[in-house]
Amino acid sequence: MNYKFPKDFWWGSASSATQMEGAYNIDGKEQNIWDYWYEIEPEKFHNNIGPYNTSNFYYKYKDDIKLMKDFSHNSFRFSISWSRLINEDQSVNDDAVKFYNDVINTMIEHNVEPFINLFHFDMPMYLQNIGGWENREVVTCYQNFAKKCFELFGDRVKKWFTHNEPIVPVECGYLGHYHYPCVVDFKRAVQVGYHIMLSSSLAIMEYKKLNQGGEIGIIINLTPSYPRSNSDEDLKASNIADLILNRSFLDTSILGEFPGELIEFVKEQNLMPEFTVEDLDAIKNNTVDLLGVNYYQPRRVKTKESKIEEGEPLTPESFFDFYDMPGKKINPHRGWEIYEKGIYDLAINIRDNYKNIPFFISENGMGVEGEEKFKIDGKIEDDYRIEFISEHLKWAHKALEEGCNLKGYHLWTFMDNWSWLNAYKNRYGFIEVDLNNNFKRTPKKSAYWFKEVIENNGF
Ligand code: BG6
Repeated sequence: MNYKFPKDFWWGSASSATQMEGAYNIDGKEQNIWDYWYEIEPEKFHNNIGPYNTSNFYYKYKDDIKLMKDFSHNSFRFSISWSRLINEDQSVNDDAVKFYNDVINTMIEHNVEPFINLFHFDMPMYLQNIGGWENREVVTCYQNFAKKCFELFGDRVKKWFTHNEPIVPVECGYLGHYHYPCVVDFKRAVQVGYHIMLSSSLAIMEYKKLNQGGEIGIIINLTPSYPRSNSDEDLKASNIADLILNRSFLDTSILGEFPGELIEFVKEQNLMPEFTVEDLDAIKNNTVDLLGVNYYQPRRVKTKESKIEEGEPLTPESFFDFYDMPGKKINPHRGWEIYEKGIYDLAINIRDNYKNIPFFISENGMGVEGEEKFKIDGKIEDDYRIEFISEHLKWAHKALEEGCNLKGYHLWTFMDNWSWLNAYKNRYGFIEVDLNNNFKRTPKKSAYWFKEVIENNGF
């Protein structure tokens, strides 16, 4: 065996409530922004497929968890749907408690450790209606939701995460058109980002008060920034991209403060959010125990060369351009570059600049369109996925050998799930989900390969 991983390495996969549960309006679940957006603009979603019946985990979880066990996974990360658990009047939905209790208990029974995330892009609509993350009141609602989750499930769940990819609601919802409310306004985006980070600290504070003996962290999509060249201009552009898109979340979560350079930038651009000194204390005093890193692709950056059109709103990309590097390896289905060494580079950065905090790869994966064409005797032979995972694991292994505190590897995702605007276009799972046949599950070749990796704790 060439690549042996440490004892008790976390092997598994990840998903999120909106992307896998389905049952969008069953048993008292309230609407979230995705349900609402689909209701008013279904044509935005690939093939008009919305979030209503995603993968049906709500009905099939017992079999799905059994399948995780059959494939030797020892952990699985999912999220609790805020709009399922908490009713508009802020009371708790008992049916949701029953569902999540059952999911957690079934996982434990099958030796699949539940890793629970509290927010995965799914703001309840009743809170979006009062401004979502722009409104400080929503931060308090989230704090209460988090506390409730710890009280209800924390006796059995020992790995908690406050947010998945906190940049995404900011970037896609307030600097682009990929998430509702599709606003483009840098100042509002900064307020949203600030409130999300504050909410993370307040959830951590609530967790620590309860002394439940587990760990709490955050999941960040750490996309390393690589400058086109070593020219001062490209280095500066790459630094600003890194500052806004990575370090705003990373430094705040681990070091307890927004980077000084970021504060200067935000002040210079007149983007300062509303904040209080008490908020900053909460951020300082409630840093994470554990970090999840989602890694899909690098960010190649060059100095701003494209013209800023008249009237074009200010965004982070007003300060740099993305660099389309010739000859890069690419996943043509998703359009994302594949750069396996990125996993090593980000691990070294965490080791050297972020206290060598324990972290794991909480998402990595490859979305492919039209996987049926790789079917042989009813099974998808996804050798490209096996290659993708193994090449990333090789670099992860090298990082481990060099002293990085890497605890595990989770693939995105266990079974094919619904990918926001892309719906079911690109499939990521170890397990095929047949939308035309009652969401039937069929393991792909990669599921069998990964099982062997887990059982050997290496490959
Ligand atoms: C991550 C998210 O950004 O990437 C997931 O945490 C998402 O929710 C995954 O599904 C893959 O990206 P996409 O856009 O292809 O679904």
